Amino acid sequence: MQLITTIAAMRTARAALTTVGFVPTMGYLHEGHLSLVRRAAAESAAVAVSIFVNPTQFGPREDFARYPRNLERDLALLGDAGVDLVFVPAVEEIYPPGFGSYVTLPAADELLEGAARPGHFRGVATVVCKLLNIVQPTRAYFGQKDAQQVAVVQQMVRDLNMPTTIVVVPTVREPDGLAMSSRNSYLSPEQRAIAPLVYQALLAVQARYQTGECDAALLRAAARTLLECTPAMSIEYVSVADPLSLRELETVGAEGALVSLAVRLGGVRLIDNLFLGR
Ligand code: PAF
Repeated sequence: MQLITTIAAMRTARAALTTVGFVPTMGYLHEGHLSLVRRAAAESAAVAVSIFVNPTQFGPREDFARYPRNLERDLALLGDAGVDLVFVPAVEEIYPPGFGSYVTLPAADELLEGAARPGHFRGVATVVCKLLNIVQPTRAYFGQKDAQQVAVVQQMVRDLNMPTTIVVVPTVREPDGLAMSSRNSYLSPEQRAIAPLVYQALLAVQARYQTGECDAALLRAAARTLLECTPAMSIEYVSVADPLSLRELETVGAEGALVSLAVRLGGVRLIDNLFLGR
């Protein structure tokens, strides 16, 4: 496995390869990331992974400084997984003095994570655009857990005619249903014990839908009722939205729906989602 820190070296290493599957990450890897790596390895001749905690996607009051980092452990996991290239640039390599071009998707900023985290998707789209330009992968792999991020990246790749295929990989969950996330490491034992309620709330919506309920307000209420029983949890949003536009639905029709939610558990923000009708 080659550890690369500069854009020039990354371009040289990539040029020697045929098909490349690319997994962009912010490190502190878990089984969710490794499932993306395994999928990339199955579909391409070589696998490249980036580890870069991207400052531009964090708001001023968010957790950039304390975001968990453990490069040594990450490299050991990626080595064991048979990854070929690991790109670990410094912040100044990606954002040198004078940097001033950003990718924005204004519609995404009005909805869900975009509305809750102003500027977040500008940072995500910009860094993913830069990483795809640097690595020039055949395919790039993203987890379904960040459903709106997937939608943003897919639209950017489509709008800007980028030649990479975006592959979406199912969310990996702990045995009790909690979606894997590097931020789960922030949870205290007490918070960790109640965190699976987030997935249970999604399952409550799914169960209600499976009984024939298509009224989106009543479906949202099924999740809210469960979450509101836990005073430690505060709801940021519960959404039942069109799976393509991510606009809120009144009724779930033939196209199904993306059910997504964000809650705060103390200082920790948890998100999760599932599809209805797929
Ligand atoms: O999902 C993430 O870890 C990040 O948003 C990404 C895609 C690596 C961009 O920084």
